Amino acid sequence: MNIQKFLKKKIKKIYKKYGISDDLDPVVRKNIKNNEIDYQVNGIIKFKKITLFSPYKLAIHISNHMKKLNIHKNISVLQPGFINITLKSTWLNKHINNMYCSKNFNISKKKSKTIVIDYSSPNIAKEMHVGHLRSTILGDVTARVMEFLGHNVIRQNHIGDWGTQFGILITQLQSKSYTSCHNIESIYQTAYLKYQTDPIFIKKAKKNVVRLQNKNKNCLKIWSTLVKSTIKKNNEVYKKLNVSLTNNDIRGESFYNFMLPGIISDLKKKKIAIHCEGSIIVPLKKFKNRIGQNMGVIVQKSNGAFLYTTTDIACLKYRCNTLKAHRIIYYVDKRQTQHLLQVWEIARKAKYVNVDTILEHHSFGMILYKNKKPFKTRHGKIIRLLDLLNKSIYRAKKIIKHKNPKMNNEEIKLIAYNIGIGAIKYFDLSKNRMSDYIFNWNQMLSLDGNTAPYIQYAYTRIQSVIKKNKLHDNISSYPIKIFTSYERKLVLVILQFEETISQLEKHGTPHLMCNYLYDLSGKFSKFYENCSILFVKEIHIKFSRIKLSILTARIIKKGLYLLGINTVSKM
Ligand code: ARG
Repeated sequence: MNIQKFLKKKIKKIYKKYGISDDLDPVVRKNIKNNEIDYQVNGIIKFKKITLFSPYKLAIHISNHMKKLNIHKNISVLQPGFINITLKSTWLNKHINNMYCSKNFNISKKKSKTIVIDYSSPNIAKEMHVGHLRSTILGDVTARVMEFLGHNVIRQNHIGDWGTQFGILITQLQSKSYTSCHNIESIYQTAYLKYQTDPIFIKKAKKNVVRLQNKNKNCLKIWSTLVKSTIKKNNEVYKKLNVSLTNNDIRGESFYNFMLPGIISDLKKKKIAIHCEGSIIVPLKKFKNRIGQNMGVIVQKSNGAFLYTTTDIACLKYRCNTLKAHRIIYYVDKRQTQHLLQVWEIARKAKYVNVDTILEHHSFGMILYKNKKPFKTRHGKIIRLLDLLNKSIYRAKKIIKHKNPKMNNEEIKLIAYNIGIGAIKYFDLSKNRMSDYIFNWNQMLSLDGNTAPYIQYAYTRIQSVIKKNKLHDNISSYPIKIFTSYERKLVLVILQFEETISQLEKHGTPHLMCNYLYDLSGKFSKFYENCSILFVKEIHIKFSRIKLSILTARIIKKGLYLLGINTVSKM
């Protein structure tokens, strides 16, 4: 049940009676401030010009129609034109029971769409670092959410396995006799230094990029070893992070190499690309440089090499024509906004993208250290993602050992893993992805506040409540019913699960799921403190409350699952 959507649909119909067009989506907000009001209809003031009524009068008319739906305990109108709705308990009861009985939380099935999600996408020949955390876990949540809603999800790990850095690495590896490619990172660093200072090295490296693009055997062999070894290391990170990416999802830059010459000639044929001082560029009116001149985007350099942009144009064409995407979402950091907009503009001009295919850039901010500078080691070095994850698990282990001195090592290990990884992921996901945030170990591992350990702990408590109460076979004959205001509040939040998921589906904003789970856990606590389960005499009340607890636990588990976080049995 998506209450918000249900109300919007009904209100839309009423709006029509007053000449307000179908295209206008009614604004219905869930109310968080006032306990007595569940939802509020906003935006009626905007219709002043469309109808003959004053906003207040119009709101009264609309509210009278709404009353006929018979779903309210109270509907009232507020100046200058707001409608406040309090739903009636019998209506809530009906829907909470439907939800309890349904495997899928009674979430309405939608038309399945093919959704391509570009996420993680690290550059090869470097180890994954803190900077990759956000693109990896934010994208993974969206992939899980879309899949849960029944969409056809195509994960794409657009690894940077092509381009200049390979020219540099191959040149370095050719010049020295390296026995194995174990420490690619340091080989790259040495080579990169040369690339900045040594003109002969630069020339060779640039040549090697072109040779690689032309499938030179020797270059390809070195390249393939480099790619394989980095992928192996990245997989370790994905596994530890509990991220759903596999090798099948890898389609790196190199894959599109075969399309690039065709793209260039097609762009030239369509008069989108032109020759300019030896290179091939696409002039774009929409984009201006710093001094206000129209910008041209280079798609092929004078030495024949293709660029990151060229690859992304080909990649977009592939996603539209071959993967048949209806919607493509990129999880790439803010700094690449302009790059993506240019790629989309060129691909749309060339008609590689259907007019109704949706392209979205779900950008995100940075992780900062407490001095508000980029998060690095004390010596100013980049932090390896694997090190960070291990550190979190280690910290979680210490806390759990301290709390449970008698717990056996195997159990501690498993719980520490789930708490440590959960804490890092949740701390990140609970922040609005658009903003930067300051990394803080103590906050993320705290049992208080909007943190993973708090939610995981709430889950273990609910489980023990359920266990304490023996379940009867005929529990199904006692429906969930609202007896107190605590139950009402809990029921309402539970019923808001679907509208929360739908927000994530629309905007890729996992922080809303975190807020939701935090709210749900809090409402459960209040309910549990104030409503007896174990000692209540009336069996129908007892069973209703047990069922409510079961449903709360199921939702927390599913919500955490969608965030890529595991629950634990004990803490
Ligand atoms: N490899 C790129 C980087 O590390 C991110 C790729 C994002 N995806 C894309 N289709 N461009 O910056």
